[in-house]
Amino acid sequence: MTVDLALVAAAYLIAGVLFILSLAGLSKHESAKLGNIYGIIGMAIALIATLWLAGQSAGVTQWVAIIVAMAIGAVIGINLAVRVEMTGMPELIAMLHSFVGLAAVLVGFNTFFASSAAPSLGAAVQEGGSDGVHLVEIFLGVFIGAVTFTGSIVAFLKLSTKISGRPLMLPFRHWLNLLAGLVSLGLMVWFVASESLVPLAVMTAIALAFGWHLVASIGGGDMPVVISMLNSYSGWAAAAAGFMLSNDLLIITGALVGSSGAYLSYIMSNAMNRSFISVIAGGFGSDGAVTSGDVDYGDHRETTAEEVAEMLVHAGSVVITPGYGMAVAQAQYPVADLTAKLRERGVTVRFGIHPVAGRLPGHMNVLLAEAKVPYDIVLEMDEINDDLPDTDVVLVIGANDTVNPAAAEDPSSPIAGMPVIEVWKAAEVVVFKRSMSAGYAGVQNPLFFRDNTAMLFGDAKDSVESIIRAL
Ligand code: TAP
Repeated sequence: MTVDLALVAAAYLIAGVLFILSLAGLSKHESAKLGNIYGIIGMAIALIATLWLAGQSAGVTQWVAIIVAMAIGAVIGINLAVRVEMTGMPELIAMLHSFVGLAAVLVGFNTFFASSAAPSLGAAVQEGGSDGVHLVEIFLGVFIGAVTFTGSIVAFLKLSTKISGRPLMLPFRHWLNLLAGLVSLGLMVWFVASESLVPLAVMTAIALAFGWHLVASIGGGDMPVVISMLNSYSGWAAAAAGFMLSNDLLIITGALVGSSGAYLSYIMSNAMNRSFISVIAGGFGSDGAVTSGDVDYGDHRETTAEEVAEMLVHAGSVVITPGYGMAVAQAQYPVADLTAKLRERGVTVRFGIHPVAGRLPGHMNVLLAEAKVPYDIVLEMDEINDDLPDTDVVLVIGANDTVNPAAAEDPSSPIAGMPVIEVWKAAEVVVFKRSMSAGYAGVQNPLFFRDNTAMLFGDAKDSVESIIRAL
C-alpha cells in the first residue's frame, strides 16, 4: 500500500470511529448535540479523504466532476431541508432512502459493466476477492438497492397522502413475495455461472416490483416500523455498494446504518406489539386498521380553558402526553411555558412520551427539547404508566392512537395489543383536539367518551395559550 492509500485508510478509520461515537452520542438527549458534531467531523474527514484519493487516482477532471455533483446535491438538499416542516420529515427521509437505493443499483450496474469491459472481472476489483464473490456482491447490492428504491417511493407516496394509506391486499401476496425471493435466488446462480447481463436485469425488474409490493401491502398504522426498516435496508444497500467499490468506510457506515435501523425496527415492533419477523417479511398489519368509527360510545363532555386552568392550579400532579397534533399546532412553546408556570406554583409536571407519538421516532422529544423542557421530566411510556393511577390531571395534547384504551381493552380493535399510555387511569383527563375525528390509524377513541374525560376543542396552541392567560 502506498503512503497515499495508507493515509486515506487511516482517515477512513478515524471517520468510522467518529460515526460510531456519533451514534452513541445520539442515543441520549444530553449527548445528542455532541453526537451530531462527531458525525459532522467524521463526514468532513471522509469527504476530504475521498476527494483527495479521487484527485490522486484520476486527476483534476474527476475532482471537478465530484465537486459539481456535490454542489448540485447540496443546493437541492439545503433547499429541501430549509422548506420541510418537522411534520414532513418522514416523507423526506423516505425520499432520501430511495436515493440511497437507486445509488446502489447504479453502482452495481456500473461495476458490472466496468468489470465486463476488462479482460477479467477480477481486474476491476483488485482487492474485491474472487470473481464469484464479486458477482454475488454486485447481485445482492442491486437487489437490496432496487427493493429499497421502490419501497421508499411507496412509503413517500403513502406518508405524503399522494396515494391511499390502505394496505394493498393482492391474493396470495405472501406466496408472491416468496416466489420473488426464490426466483431471484435462481437468477443469482445463473448470473454467477454465466456473468451475463440478462439475469441481473431480470432480477432488477423483480426486485423493483418486490420492493413496491412489500411496502404497498402494509397498513397506515404500521408505517413507523416501515420507515425504520427502509432506513435499515438503505444502510445495507450502502454497505453493498461499499463492497463493490472496495470502500471500507462505505462498508462500515452502511453496516452501522443497517444494524442500527434493524435494531430500531425491532424496538418499534415491540412498542407496537408486532412480530419483528413479519416486519422484515412485509405485508404485516394488513388487517386494514381503518374503521370502527361506527361504534356508539355515548356522549362526550366539553370543557373550557378557564375550567382547565382552575383544575390545574388545584392539582398536585400533572402528566402531559403530547402527540402529532402538538407538532401540527407547534404548541411546544406554550406547553413549555405552561409547564414552567405550574412548576413555579408547586405542581409536579411530567411528560409521558409514547415511542410512536407523532410521525417519526423521537418526534416529541425533539419538539420538547427545542422548547427547552427539562429532560428529567420527560419520561417514556413504560416509566410513566405505573404512576398514572396516582395522577390528578392528564393533558392529552394532540395525541389520539397512542392513548386509545381500545388497544388495551378491545381485542377486536385494529390496534389491539399495541401498548398505549394509560391516561384513562388518572383522576381527570383533558383531551386537546379540534374535533371528534379519529387519529392516524383511523380508529375511534373510546377515551373521549369516558366520565373522567373532558374535551377541549380548538387548535392546541391557542388552547394552551388561553389556559396560560386564565391561570
Ligand atoms: P394521532 O393518532 O395521529 O392523532 C393526532 C391527533 O391530533 C388527531 O386526532 C387530531 O385531531 C389532533 N390534531 C391535529 N392537528 C391539531 C391541532 N392543530 N391542534 C390540536 N389537535 C390537533 O397522533 P399520535 O397519538 O401522536 O399517534 C401517532 C400515530 O401516527 C400512530 O398511529 C402511529 O402509529 C402513527 N405514525 C407514527 C410514526 C412515528 S415513527 N412516530 C410514523 C408514522 C405514523 P383533530 O383533527 O380532531 O384535531
